[in-house]
Amino acid sequence: MPPNDLLVRLEHVGIAVRDASVTLGVYEALFGLRPYKVEEVSSEGVRTYFLDAGSTKLELLEAIDPESALGRHLATRGQGLHHLAFQVPDVDAAHARLESAGFRPLGPVKEGADAKRIFFVHPKDTAGVLVELCSDRSP
Ligand code: CO
Repeated sequence: MPPNDLLVRLEHVGIAVRDASVTLGVYEALFGLRPYKVEEVSSEGVRTYFLDAGSTKLELLEAIDPESALGRHLATRGQGLHHLAFQVPDVDAAHARLESAGFRPLGPVKEGADAKRIFFVHPKDTAGVLVELCSDRSP
């Protein structure tokens, strides 16, 4: 029987933006979408804007600290697709399983936006796409 942390769904698509107000205008013009949640993750130096795109969410990521990882990403690679986030039932079990399988998690499981606990896997281990794994924070 496979471990239950193999159950997975695409939870959101993360998009790095220089100016969220501009990009929010784009998604409103495209689809009439407006953010249902705006949340700062000060430990990561980012402000996040969540849009409900039906089968998944969009997470617009704006740097509030130019020296944050996202700020440096924007400076060197510009805006655009940043990561794919997959929901798993047990993010701690997934972290342990992937680490023992040779993947390189970018740090331990930590608090993320939208009431999630998260970690990222190095894109060199995942075909060039930064992958986030997340689970709902326990109430
Ligand atoms: Co994310």
